[in-house]
Amino acid sequence: MKIFIDTANIQEIRQANSWGFLDGVTTNPSLIAATKRTFREVVEEICAEITGPVNVEVVAKDVPGMVREGRELAKIANNIVLKIPMTPPGIQATRQLSGEGIKVNITLVFSPLQALLAAKAGASYASPFIGRLDDISHTGMDLISDIVTIYNNYAFPTEIIVASIRHPLHVLDAARIGAGICTIPLKVIEQMFKHPLTDIGLEKFLKDWEKIPKSS
Ligand code: G3P
Repeated sequence: MKIFIDTANIQEIRQANSWGFLDGVTTNPSLIAATKRTFREVVEEICAEITGPVNVEVVAKDVPGMVREGRELAKIANNIVLKIPMTPPGIQATRQLSGEGIKVNITLVFSPLQALLAAKAGASYASPFIGRLDDISHTGMDLISDIVTIYNNYAFPTEIIVASIRHPLHVLDAARIGAGICTIPLKVIEQMFKHPLTDIGLEKFLKDWEKIPKSS
């Protein structure tokens, strides 16, 4: 499984990158707004830090606007991936931009058939938002199972980015299902390291180490 971080905060990105397993970054307008910095400044800084895909969202609503904006964003760095919303214009723009060799991540996916359309449009990635489904009492992980099945049935090359992850169990279940990518907030990545028995075991080993004679 590839691990992306879901943030626009450069300190968080650097922290996750320092561990050596970070495969990419996803942002959205809400995450960029939280930095209180300009869009361009934030995106350029992330692209300088990360060699893997850096997902940035297009905000135009119509096809010509999305295509124009997408082409401009793609010029920022060669690892830019455009996040385009799951709308009819979004799907049309995706077909066009993918045809030009620009990678697109269809975002705000909440149903298996939306994911099917994303794959049909030639999207490189589709982002189902599982936490937001859980929030309205739908089991978000069922959506991931359905999309994995559909993409496998037809050998679609579109990669699934499990998004809107709220806790480590989301990552565990996505891994069991075999989803290709999870985009995870830093807080949840940090939780993935943790087990109380690791801490207790380490403390005991270090205490016992002190009891060992250091010279004969
Ligand atoms: O990046 C998109 C997605 O991960 C948003 O998550 O927590 O705002 O539902 P959340």
